[in-house]
Amino acid sequence: MNHFEHRGGVLHAEDVPLPLIAEQIGTPVYVYSKATLVRHARVFKEALSNLKDPHIAFAVKANPNLAVLKVLQREGFGADVVSGGEMDRALAADIAPHHIVFSGVGKTHSELVQGLAADIGQFNLESEEEGYELSVIAAQLGQRARCALRVNPDVDARTHAKISTGKAENKFGVPIDRAGEIYAALAGLPGIEMRGIAVHIGSQLSSLEPLETAFSKVGSLIAELRAQGQSVTHVDLGGGLGVPYRTDEILPSPAEYGAMVTRVTRDWDVSLSFEPGRVIAGNAGILLTRVIRLKRSSNASPFVVVDAAMNDLARPAMYGAWHDIDAVEPSGMRQCAHVVGPICETGDTFAMNREMDALKAGDLAIFRTAGAYGATMASSYNSRGFVPEVLVDGDRFAVVADRLPAADIMAAERVPDWL
Ligand code: LLP
Repeated sequence: MNHFEHRGGVLHAEDVPLPLIAEQIGTPVYVYSKATLVRHARVFKEALSNLKDPHIAFAVKANPNLAVLKVLQREGFGADVVSGGEMDRALAADIAPHHIVFSGVGKTHSELVQGLAADIGQFNLESEEEGYELSVIAAQLGQRARCALRVNPDVDARTHAKISTGKAENKFGVPIDRAGEIYAALAGLPGIEMRGIAVHIGSQLSSLEPLETAFSKVGSLIAELRAQGQSVTHVDLGGGLGVPYRTDEILPSPAEYGAMVTRVTRDWDVSLSFEPGRVIAGNAGILLTRVIRLKRSSNASPFVVVDAAMNDLARPAMYGAWHDIDAVEPSGMRQCAHVVGPICETGDTFAMNREMDALKAGDLAIFRTAGAYGATMASSYNSRGFVPEVLVDGDRFAVVADRLPAADIMAAERVPDWL
């Protein structure tokens, strides 16, 4: 459920007609709906309401916009960050340091120091080596870092290979069959408090089964660690719940996910935390674009050339991802079309032979489900500027990220005087 609907033949974001945003801000532009973000946050919280005091840390990578983080902070969400930059954003959105969890295989020395200086809630260690390094730094600073060991359960998440993280060959976490030994080694180090386990097997999961398998393995590991005399008080179950990208797609609901988690973790006696990203932000955003022109192709379907491109929304080019495309003011006519951007490579294709609303030059259209992994993955490829972002709340809207024009990006470059 989201708040991007046609009213009187015109697509609105909540109560704001999208042509108004296009006129005032220009296109392409990301548009987020605050009501949808809030609704998703509440549905997710409600789904976990049978758990004792769950901690929900929004995966900042999904949508790091400060205004989006602020909305979620107000809903009581913490943050899952994977870089010093994301940590800065979470703190700037007033997310309490103890509500920040730091994930990622490549935390640098200075990022570990930054996390300690901010006194963040938890470091999710992705390797034994990282634990040793953090121990030295924390001990030098006279601190004790709260840590979880991220395990790799070797479970196939059955999602796109590029966003699967829980198979043995993936770079994430430590092999679950070595976790007991590594946990014990790290627990004995100064500067570190090993307090639990973290797991995240992938993103856009369309079935709960792989998650349940992974969580069951974590359950066995908790028992094994406790039998060895280790303390396990916290478990982070990651994110990963998928969202429908096509109107006819059925995915497990947050309620079904919550029920599964409640059942599987019943006897764990730990504080649980979660790192949802896409399920909160995905359907809370769209990318608004304008058709530049129609061009004949070698088959009956025309190329609809839009002003958004793969640098603005990378998912179709990167993962072959589907995003529904709708006209902002549909004429009622349908067409079969190829939808492409202006960038000079064939990968800059949003849809081929897509049965969709008929569009002509000058028309506005949207890519749906672009609130997660949309603007955050944008680049300036082909010397295109960075796409702006707008947040709608009822009948008002605000630019929450300015368009960064190509000229400003060029202004940061220098030609050395020896050239
Ligand atoms: N926690 C960790 C440790 C993660 O690596 C991720 C996502 C999440 C949580 C959030 O997962 P979510 O709930 O959003 O599925 N760019 C890709 C998605 C990459 C996901 C990376 N990790 C895409 O556009 O599909």
